[in-house]
This record gives sequence, C-alpha cells and structure tokens, in this order.
Amino acid sequence: MARIPRQFIDELIARADIVEIIGARVQLKKAGREYRACCPFHNEKTPSFWVSPDKQFYHCFGCGAHGTVLGFLMEHDHMAFPEAVEELATRLGLEVPHEGGGAGAPKRADEPLYELMKDVARFYVEALAREPRARDYVVRRGLTPQTCEHFGIGYAPNSWNDLLRRFGGTEAGRKALSETGMIIERERGQIRDGERHYDRFRDRLMFPIRDARGRTIAFGGRIIEAGEPKYLNSPETVLFHKGRELYGLYETRRARTNLARLLIVEGYMDTVRLHQAGIDYAVATLGTATTPEHLRRLFRLVPSVVFAFDGDRAGRAAAWRALQQALPEVREGREIRFLFLPEGHDPDTLVGEEGKEAFEARLQDALPLSEYLVRELSQQAELGHADGRARFAENARPLFLKVPEGVYRELLLERLAEVVGLGPQRLRELWMPGAPAPAAEPPAPAPSRPRTAVTAGRGSLVRQAIVSLLHHPQIAAEVTAAERAGLEASDEPGVALLRELLDDLQAHPAQLAAQVVQRWHDREGGESLKKLLEREGVITAAPAAAGELRGAVARLADLAAGRRLEALEAKSRSTPLTEHELQEFQSLMSKLGHRRGGGA
Ligand code: UTP
Ligand code: MN
Repeated sequence: MARIPRQFIDELIARADIVEIIGARVQLKKAGREYRACCPFHNEKTPSFWVSPDKQFYHCFGCGAHGTVLGFLMEHDHMAFPEAVEELATRLGLEVPHEGGGAGAPKRADEPLYELMKDVARFYVEALAREPRARDYVVRRGLTPQTCEHFGIGYAPNSWNDLLRRFGGTEAGRKALSETGMIIERERGQIRDGERHYDRFRDRLMFPIRDARGRTIAFGGRIIEAGEPKYLNSPETVLFHKGRELYGLYETRRARTNLARLLIVEGYMDTVRLHQAGIDYAVATLGTATTPEHLRRLFRLVPSVVFAFDGDRAGRAAAWRALQQALPEVREGREIRFLFLPEGHDPDTLVGEEGKEAFEARLQDALPLSEYLVRELSQQAELGHADGRARFAENARPLFLKVPEGVYRELLLERLAEVVGLGPQRLRELWMPGAPAPAAEPPAPAPSRPRTAVTAGRGSLVRQAIVSLLHHPQIAAEVTAAERAGLEASDEPGVALLRELLDDLQAHPAQLAAQVVQRWHDREGGESLKKLLEREGVITAAPAAAGELRGAVARLADLAAGRRLEALEAKSRSTPLTEHELQEFQSLMSKLGHRRGGGA
C-alpha cells in the first residue's frame, strides 16, 4: 500500500467534523462546549464518553478509549487506517493522494449506485437534446448551453417508465433505481401493465445534485411551465442527506480554488443563473432551511457567508429561521451576513436584470448578523420607552444564549446592551445570574525568569511546554533557533519528545492538536500526547501560550546550563579545566549572568 502523505492526513483532521462523524454513529448530547454519549466501546448506562469539537478528539472516562476522528473510524467501524482515510476523504470531497502510486482505495458497497446515478444523469442530458419543448424552456430561462453542460442539466421525459425501461430491466436494476429514489413502488392493486414501479420524475427539467466529489447523488426537477409541485426533489437515500448537501457546492469549488466567501440562496435556478453571471460562489439549500450542519461545512471552506433572501414575506420568514439556525455557529473569525432583495425579485431575476457588478455591490452592503438581529427585534418592540426596551431584552435573551461563549458573544452583548440602555455588565448579571465575567487573559510571562523561579515547578516545565504546543501547534514557529538550541543540553524527563515536537512542527506546521496526535499515533510519546490533550484545565489563548512556551524553553535551557556550570565548577576544584572547558564556563557564566540580570 502506498503511503498517504502527512499533509493530507493533517488536512483531513482539520476539515473533518468529529461531532458529525461520531454523531452519525452514536447519539450525542450537547453538554457545554462538548458532547457526551454512552460509550460505544463498552457497556454502560450513564454516559462517560465525551467528544470535544475544539480538540477534535474523543475520550471515554469509563474504558479509556480515546483518539482522533480517524482513530474512531478505525475502532468503531473496524476500518484499516487507509479505509478510514478514504471514508473521511470521500465525505469531504477530497481525493486521497498516494506517495509513489500503488493500490487505490478498495471498492465500496455503494459504488454501483453512484455509477447508476451517473448513467441516469447522462440519460437526462440526452433526453434534453431530443425534446424541443424542454430546450425552448431552457432558452426562455436564459440558460446558455455552457451553463447546462457545467451543471449537467437534463430533462426527464414525459413518461411513466422511460427510466425504468432503460435501467430497470433486471431485479437488481430495479432495486438500485428504488434505492436511489428514482422510481416509486405502486400500491397493491394499482399495478399497471404488469409494472410494479413508475418513474419519479416525469416531464421535468432535471438538476443533478452532486456531492463534494462531483458524483450525482440526487436530482431536483422543475416542472416545465406551470404545475404542482413546481420542484420535486429526490427523497433521502443512502447517497443523499438533504440537511448536509448544498446545491452548487461542487461547481463552486470546481470554479474557484481560493474561496473567500459563499453566497447561500434558496433555489436551483438562482444558483445556476448566478454562476452564469460570474457569481460562481453561490450555493443553495435543498428545499430545507439552512442547518447548523450546512454552516459547519461552509465555515470549513470560507470565513464568510452571505445569505440572500427574497424581499417578500416568505423570504423574511426564511431569513429569520436561518438566523436562528446560525446563532450556535457564530463566533469570532466567522462572518454571517444577510442580504434582502427588493420585493418581487429573486437572485435569478435580479442578476439577470442588473448583472454581476450591481449584484456584488449589494453583497457588500449586506447586513451583519448582529445588525439584522437588532433590526428584527427592534421592530417587535417600541424602543422609545422602558417597557419596550424590556420587551426587546426579553426577546433577545434566548437568542443571545444560543451564541457560544467567546469574543463574538461579548461583542453581541455590548451591542444589545446599548439598545436596551443598560451597561453590558448589568445585562450579563440579569441574563446569566451567577456567571462570572470572562476573565482577562493573564499576561504572558517574560521569556526568561530568574533561576529561583526555574526551580519552582521544574517537573512541569516540559509538560507545560508540550501542552502549549499541543493546543497551539502554530506557536512552534515562534521559538527561535537559539532558543531551540538551548534545549539540546537538557535532560529533563520528556524533553526528547519536546525537541522532536518542536522540530517536526517547525518543519511541518500544524494547526490542530488532533493533527499532532495523529502524526504521533504510532511514534514513541504518542500515548503521552493523547493523555496530555485529555487533561482538562485552563487552556491559554495562542498569544499567551507562545509566551509560555518560549518561557518554558528558556527556563529549561537555563536549567541545563546551570547544571553544566555546576559540574564544571565542581570539576575545577579538583582538576584544572581545559582551554575548551574554560571557554564553555565563561560563555555559560555570561549567558546565565546576562539572563539573571535581565530577568531580575
Ligand atoms: P421558489 O418557489 O422560490 O422557486 O423555490 P424558484 O427557485 O424561484 O424557481 P423558479 O425560478 O420559479 O424556477 C425555491 C426553492 O425551493 C424549493 C426548490 O429547491 C426551489 O429551488 N422548492 C420550491 C421545492 O423543493 N419544491 C417546490 O415545490 C418549490
Ligand atoms: Mn425564481
């Protein structure tokens, strides 16, 4: 088996959502920032299995099972490492690269269903070419042949069984059509012409829904001209989960390699027309409200998401639903905005009328989530008097509490407090009685300390450095070559692992603890890393952690230098030092003296 490059494993860990993967297999309950469940690896009645989205790590306090998302798949689904990698990659739409070629991934059980969907999509494309009515409709909707090809748009013939005849000749074929939702089984007694099934989509313009890898997993079909229902979608199947997929995401990612933002719209036609107009970063939810899962997926791709809604009542209601779904996913570093289109327009008609530049100018002016929230709530209460502002506060509280703790929540609190007319502190006390105000970040310790301080927590110095590195692998870059060199002479327990970690992370930067744990999963020290990651405790924010790390490294170096100095001193009492030792002695003296002077 060819080797899978480390960068790729890193990327998988970074992009995967451990809560999503484990949540699909184990019923998880939210508990604060983490999730808990009854452990799938041993029998238990009270839940002691924890999943941490921040650490991208799971741990069972009952049986000690723990690991990353890859480890989970291996243990839970009994997958070999390459299979687990393949599984995750598939979900994320990534192709597994193999160093030096070699055997590809094993065939999966649902492979034939994907093949079938591909053939069905082609069948619809061919049918479109043959049917003038459908072609006319496409032209009237302003779609170019290139757009149709790019999105694989086709036509389902006006027949009860064209598809069935073409692909359902055998029992296996019918079973596959049925499993993918392409045919429907008739009720008993309704069987016609000896056929138990009929085609789900008839006389419709067909939009293939593709997964992140571009495989067709479902369809949306629009009636030609008028009729009910206007759009028909594939049902949920083994291939298709509505709450997860977004129409146009594959096409968006194919068009752009470096995405900065995504535009979320409501319809198939909106997506297609926006792309055609050059706004090739539009995606649509599939006849459902945007789910937190959608948002988590999107925020793994981009830092900024704009929702566009029609200006009518239905559009405003949909926007409010989207806001409520979005609240648990807002945090610093993520931007969510809302764009309301003029009444009577949807993105399809608007971009057709005014073009790309004007439409993008609207995006620029879209309302930030917090402002939309304030605006909406202000409309439900009269802010001119105290009763109204109290009402505003009452309506805002449950929404505010959905926002996870953090900088964004603090800023939102300030904004809401401003409207209510109370100080943010007062509002916090009223809304979250007993909750302490978030503590200010402790100041970072100076990179070096007097030696008296060094001896204080010696045993924990290495551990502290490793924990800082583990939680913020990117801070490895801040340790200078000179600081790193100072570690060579140290013989504290665990310092070898610290040196290895620093070297590895400087050569191959990582962002997440789970990436580091995964790199070490079969290396010496791997178990200790996992244990350190599981230890609860206050985790310092990155800038302060960098200070702590450099402080610890410097103190370890001082400690080693101090010891060496003592050894040389002891030696000099019995034997004269060599020229070389003398030089070393002097350089150690000046180094430590300098440090001590600087630190005092
Ligand atoms: P709209 O009714 O706003 O239609 O539905 P539209 O997108 O403007 O479509 P055109 O321009 O008339 O062709 C928006 C989305 O809601 C879902 C579809 O995903 C649609 O794209 N929908 C709508 C359904 O699933 N079923 C329906 O009957 C209607
Ligand atoms: Mn429309």
